[in-house]
Amino acid sequence: MSDPARFLNAFAQALAAMALYRDGHPARERAVDVAYQQIHDLQSDTPRPLFTFLGDEVVFGQQPLRELKAWDWGQRLAQAGIQRLEFEEQVSRDDFEGFLEEVLARLTLSAISTEARQMRRSSIRFGPVGLKGESEVAPELLPTATIAFSLREEVDTLRWLQREVQTTGAVRVSEAEAVVRSLAVAMHSGRHVMLPLLQLKEFDQYTTTHSMNVAVLSMALAEFLGLSATDVRTFGIAGLLHDIGKIKIPLDVLTKPGRLTDAERALMNEHPAAGARLLLAVQEDLDLAVVVAYEHHIMINGGGYPVLHYARDCHPASKLVHVCDVYDALRTRRPYREAWSFEKTLGYLQERRGLEFDPALCDAFLRMMRQWEPQVAIVSDPAAQARPA
Ligand SMILES: [Fe+2]
Ligand SMILES: [Fe+2]
Repeated sequence: MSDPARFLNAFAQALAAMALYRDGHPARERAVDVAYQQIHDLQSDTPRPLFTFLGDEVVFGQQPLRELKAWDWGQRLAQAGIQRLEFEEQVSRDDFEGFLEEVLARLTLSAISTEARQMRRSSIRFGPVGLKGESEVAPELLPTATIAFSLREEVDTLRWLQREVQTTGAVRVSEAEAVVRSLAVAMHSGRHVMLPLLQLKEFDQYTTTHSMNVAVLSMALAEFLGLSATDVRTFGIAGLLHDIGKIKIPLDVLTKPGRLTDAERALMNEHPAAGARLLLAVQEDLDLAVVVAYEHHIMINGGGYPVLHYARDCHPASKLVHVCDVYDALRTRRPYREAWSFEKTLGYLQERRGLEFDPALCDAFLRMMRQWEPQVAIVSDPAAQARPA
């Protein structure tokens, strides 16, 4: 096998290992090491290797790599908007791994974009074909409003995760992390922060679309408040899993158009504690998500549920997710009422500031939504048809 083909195989294996294993896992490290060694070897002959992925054809420089005919990664990369891959100089192992992470997120995202995608690290570039000399294009000339998100992979992964909880009771943390990482990439694929929010199609999909939206809004607000990228993702996980305790509530209660009976209401009000228990049972450190699941319906005046035996302040993350949670719930059509408008929803948050919501976090949320409203991208739920939640 030629060097370029050997590199591409190692590259694909590294991506597969990264999708399966967490940071620091030996199998993941090994796969990244092998791919890194291969690009190093390749660059000793070809200092600036360039790959082009066109349908089922992979081209190295000008030369098609026939031995990769059955290699389906080229197609997957092309579909994810990565039709060319160019290494301009030697990269460090860290940069290489960071690059793999972005490719993985891009694959998961499968976003289609007309924008030239350029790596933060200038020595590896990838993006769509046909934009000659994209590095010379001034950034302000690149279109930013034409990004079409699909979020299909994220929604599918979250549905799978929810089904796993339903059937086995286990919360799959690495998949939740993959969804959040991918949302973070989607939010930063343009020049400005983007807020891709799903629009509900079917009432029975509410918990899925709502959880995705609360994750995006929580990450956006954490970022707006100046938190680090790692903290932003931790808030994203907490937002994504805040309602995981609803997974065992029967669908007819969740989608009931009329008033809930006392028994149904009691069942509903158990979802914070049930969610916290599910999240406590996993091995990974999900402390923040546990706390947020438990506290996200507690109001700052002590109202809401669960009722605490001794009144105490909630964690700031819970208060942050609480605002995002109520915003998304009101903006969404429910079996018993229409969706509220943007202005009406912000008005409600403003009114309840200091009663239900932490004043500082509520103010920050209102400021953020006013400032970033033009960057909200409404995405229609991509996979709502015939997929039970
Ligand atoms: Fe909830
Ligand atoms: Fe919620």
